[in-house]
Amino acid sequence: MQFTIEVNNKSIKAEKGETILSALNRNGIKIPTLCRMAEFTPTGACRMCVVEVEGRDRLVTACSAPVEEWMKIQTHSPRVIRARKTIVELLLSNHPDDCLYCDRNLDCELQRLSDEMQVRERRIRGSKIKPRRDQSSPAIVRELSKCILCGRCLRVCEEVVTATSIDFIGRGRYTHVGPAMDRDFNFSSCIHCGQCVLVCPTGALHEKHYLSEVQEQLSKSDVTRVIQYSPLVPYALAGELGVKYHRDFDRLMNAALRKIGFDRVFLSGAGTDILITELADAVISARDKPGRKPLIVSACPAWVKYCEQFTPGLLPMLSTLKTPQQISGAIIKSVVPATVYKPRVYTVSVTPCTAMKFEARRDSMTRKGISDIDTVLTVRELARLIVLYGIDMSNIDPEPADEPMALRSSASLLAEAAGGITESVLRLIAVMAGEKEADRPAVKKLRNSGTFREAMVTAAGVTYTVAVVDGLKGLEKLEKMIEGGADYDLAEVMVCPGGCVNGGGMVPAGSKEAVRQRSKFIWQTDDQEAVKGPEQSASVEALYGKVFDQCSELADKKLFHTNFSKRDVLL
Ligand code: SF4
Ligand code: SF4
Ligand code: FES
Repeated sequence: MQFTIEVNNKSIKAEKGETILSALNRNGIKIPTLCRMAEFTPTGACRMCVVEVEGRDRLVTACSAPVEEWMKIQTHSPRVIRARKTIVELLLSNHPDDCLYCDRNLDCELQRLSDEMQVRERRIRGSKIKPRRDQSSPAIVRELSKCILCGRCLRVCEEVVTATSIDFIGRGRYTHVGPAMDRDFNFSSCIHCGQCVLVCPTGALHEKHYLSEVQEQLSKSDVTRVIQYSPLVPYALAGELGVKYHRDFDRLMNAALRKIGFDRVFLSGAGTDILITELADAVISARDKPGRKPLIVSACPAWVKYCEQFTPGLLPMLSTLKTPQQISGAIIKSVVPATVYKPRVYTVSVTPCTAMKFEARRDSMTRKGISDIDTVLTVRELARLIVLYGIDMSNIDPEPADEPMALRSSASLLAEAAGGITESVLRLIAVMAGEKEADRPAVKKLRNSGTFREAMVTAAGVTYTVAVVDGLKGLEKLEKMIEGGADYDLAEVMVCPGGCVNGGGMVPAGSKEAVRQRSKFIWQTDDQEAVKGPEQSASVEALYGKVFDQCSELADKKLFHTNFSKRDVLL
């Protein structure tokens, strides 16, 4: 039901049941917010969004108060502006003021609000919180003095990720955000997904950077520097650099990486193609085994850690195949030759995922103490590296990537959206069974929205049943279905809602719709590209046909597998 309210002495239309903020936004009136997150129940914690409502003594929080028919609202009266400015000043009163050195400099909501509120002097002085930087996690850095206690991170961790790894700790001015018992991050149940980083408005939570390490290796003359990047990275990088993505951007990126000083540039997508191929084989060969249980995909490293900690009962079903990053890393470290002049091969992986920083350091991903992937960078870090080395992406010539991982299929890009690995595996199974392609409407059910999706696809008379958990809120359903005897052939679990398109190393999408748009880009690209599956990729053919023969551990596929075990954590 629609009704009229008065805002700033003008009539606007409002919908029954919506908040004041929603009515204002729909009518082109912007109100600053801090603790509010789209699609979450408002808490009214920060009071940044206050407005004046005639007849009410106190200012009203627009994000949580429902709009009512009789309302007369002032959104920018002197009283409202003063109140908002005071809130910002109070937040700044104990803030460290080290903006120039902060990870979020020029990209900080507090900085922006302070500018919008015209804060030009420190009027309120609070005692500064002692700077404490928790760098113990391989993926996430926590800077306690920059926390403004908006609570966004802990809500995402609890309500979306379901890990509940962080909470408010302490009281009064000593309140801060951290893991249970105020331990450091590496002693916590954090699964390194980075979803909290995407929502933190300040530099209180950010990904751990490894750019100095990369720069150091780039300056050495005795190192062969190899970089690989995930299929989504060029698209995401274009967004981060503020340029329009086009089909040649991937090849421009290859040129840029070589200009920076990388000797070899590989596509992690070739590793994804290997993963899809191996998963398809595993699903087909498991069909006739007695007591068959679902094979659960282990391509999301945050999910793997979650499973080890919270659902160890599912570990026996977890595929032992490594992630595309680690499969590619194992291939690189096996086939890129160390020479007399360059005795060391240094590998960098660029991904949309913060959890891969943790994954690369797992003991099971190393050989003789040396990791297959030395350093993992997020898209944001790569953008900084390109800017640091002064590469003008609009003024360089495109170049191909290097053999033996110069090409990828569109299925590997599909894998960056939740459900994409399963869809790609089903497509390959259909082709392997002699069909022209998999039953399109059936596999496309996996692209629907919702946290739990199922599909049944028949190829050459055999029906395969699959499930996809898109964000861990759907995990309970999968567990229940398995307990109830559902005989899935394959189940995919992705921690970040939407999949890697919404990974912790990406630019924050800001809404479910924006995440969906990224997935749509992937699906459109899949429609347009010619090489649809691993079976059509010349790189996959060369890898299986001759490259793996160079190394017995690649030939017998031992290097593609790893192991997982139950992990005890402090809750
Ligand atoms: S990285 Fe993920 S699991 Fe860890 S605290 Fe943040 S949201 Fe929670
Ligand atoms: S760490 Fe960031 S998101 Fe979490 S409460 Fe502090 S400021 Fe808010
Ligand atoms: S944004 Fe409304 S109270 Fe925080």
